[in-house]
Amino acid sequence: MSVLTIEKLTASVGAEITGIDTDRLLSEDLAGPILDALEHNGVLVIPGLHLAPEAQVAFGRRLGEVDYSPGHHPVAGIYRVTLDKSKNSSANKLKATFDWHIDGCTPTGDEYPQMATILSAKAVSDKGGETEFASSYAAYDRLSDDEKERFASLRVVHSLEASQSRVTPDPDPETLTRWRSWPSSEHPLIWTHRSGRRSLVLGASADYVVGMDRAEGRAILDDLLTRATEPAHVYRHQWSVGDTVIWDNRGVLHRAAPYDHSSPREMLRTTVLGDEPIK
Ligand code: OGA
Ligand code: MN
Repeated sequence: MSVLTIEKLTASVGAEITGIDTDRLLSEDLAGPILDALEHNGVLVIPGLHLAPEAQVAFGRRLGEVDYSPGHHPVAGIYRVTLDKSKNSSANKLKATFDWHIDGCTPTGDEYPQMATILSAKAVSDKGGETEFASSYAAYDRLSDDEKERFASLRVVHSLEASQSRVTPDPDPETLTRWRSWPSSEHPLIWTHRSGRRSLVLGASADYVVGMDRAEGRAILDDLLTRATEPAHVYRHQWSVGDTVIWDNRGVLHRAAPYDHSSPREMLRTTVLGDEPIK
């Protein structure tokens, strides 16, 4: 019998874990079973866990290496996700979470893409603010054989400018310079994982297809993203304070449903770094 009680939330993405509290999460060696469940379900929901920030970072460390970049929060390893500028001076940038994306597609250096993101709800919005998930493995599996072959060699440039310009279409010159100083990354459209599984690398950061007419390449990227994220293939998490959700950036796309900019919604995020290149 598995040490975890797991129930699938949709056919292709998401599962809920019940019967677990912080003590169990940290005292037993659950890292192996949780990583397994994450790989197979893409998203794990632990409702009402009320994980303290320090415990969240300790849990993240059980799964892998944690990103300790400054996060507008007193606890190292926590990044505060909120549109409230008094709580996060870079809040504006977070509007890009309203578009489908994969965390870590545009690293500052040659780091591998982020493996998992752990998000806990500290405050929720009255309206909107759900987080939606779609499997990028399943999106690949649904392609026709002809498409799998046609897309096998395509490479895509991902940039911060591509994702930010969707939410801030008219940046001032200073902002544009800042976006452009961020290095862009080139990834294959189809990621062949160590496990042998394949997934599509898509989302707001995907700018253009290398060596292809811009419009033609955009049409392919837009069509693939639309199909990957059809409502029938999406798990939508409706947050309550204290919920923790973990997702696997190797195999899921995600986005936040719009919420009011003055909403108190506040999520605490811990990023577990990856150890596998996109190839
Ligand atoms: C993120 C993110 C979604 C949300 O923190 O990377 O995409 O619902 N968050 O806040
Ligand atoms: Mn994200």
